[in-house]
Amino acid sequence: AGQNNGKWGEYVTVDFDEGIAWVTLNRPKQRNAINPGIVWEMNAIMDALEEDDRCKVMVVTGAGESFSAGMDLKEYFRATDKVPPIQRERLFRANAAWQWRRMMYFPKPTISMVNGWCFGGAFQFLVGCDLAIASEDAIFGLSEINWGIIPAGIVTKSVLETMSFRDAMYYIMTGETFTGQQAADMKLVNKAVSPDELKAETRKLAMTLIGKNPFVLRQAKTACRFTRDLTWEQAGEYLMAKSDQTELRDPENGRNTGMSQFLDEKSFRPGLGAYRR
Ligand code: ACO
Repeated sequence: AGQNNGKWGEYVTVDFDEGIAWVTLNRPKQRNAINPGIVWEMNAIMDALEEDDRCKVMVVTGAGESFSAGMDLKEYFRATDKVPPIQRERLFRANAAWQWRRMMYFPKPTISMVNGWCFGGAFQFLVGCDLAIASEDAIFGLSEINWGIIPAGIVTKSVLETMSFRDAMYYIMTGETFTGQQAADMKLVNKAVSPDELKAETRKLAMTLIGKNPFVLRQAKTACRFTRDLTWEQAGEYLMAKSDQTELRDPENGRNTGMSQFLDEKSFRPGLGAYRR
């Protein structure tokens, strides 16, 4: 099952560019199937990027024609069937960490840029990311049923959180594929664009996020994740406490700056864009 010592570059690459960290799964010959190497490298990358100022937004994508063909049947499953259970569990735990447990609360905004094949386990980080943009011709599939397993890890939960109940049941039970355009129509991804526009559209979205107050953005995304499972009364209490925490801990005191630019200087309109930082 292996481990690494905090390095990456063999299976995943990172390119920094104007505040965007483009994180690219880089096993194009295997259609970016998730092997243990990707698991350990992604954990190391997230450790590094959460405190690297060159990363204000993290974009996850795949090299070549594939986003990710899901878990690697050979290296992640077959090869670990015979290792001591504790080692297998350690690998599975590390995979859950980067794909959803840490991803959902990553302190910076995250975007999945779905450039091609997206199967099975890839839905975990597709949904773990805050936002997703797909190429219209990307092909998605919950293919588990096709080879005799159920969508485990956290895949079933992930799709139930983002797709309608009927759509989730349909694609889990039939294993049929659907396109990026269909994924957008079902709201599994925010939008689908032509393959030529994919990178530019993703960059535009990332730049919009980079223009916002980063601390408040983090608080807002965390609040979205937690509020889903709360009752109305709990949500009301939690959100007001989170709002007070945000105001007290925001290093740039955005609330007062924004208010002043609108009310006193009349130099911006909050309805139409972010305050000047
Ligand atoms: N696990 C292990 N190896 C894989 C995987 C995978 N998930 N996906 C692709 N590969 C390997 C193939 O075995 C092949 O290896 P080889 O060159 O040594 O023979 C190579 O990648 C290329 O794959 P092809 O099937 O030849 O590529 P093609 O472009 O024709 O098809 C496709 C791409 C549709 C993605 C196909 O490879 C496929 O169906 N992959 C499996 C998708 C899947 O069901 N993933 C598991 C989901 S369930 C889960 O994640 C828990």
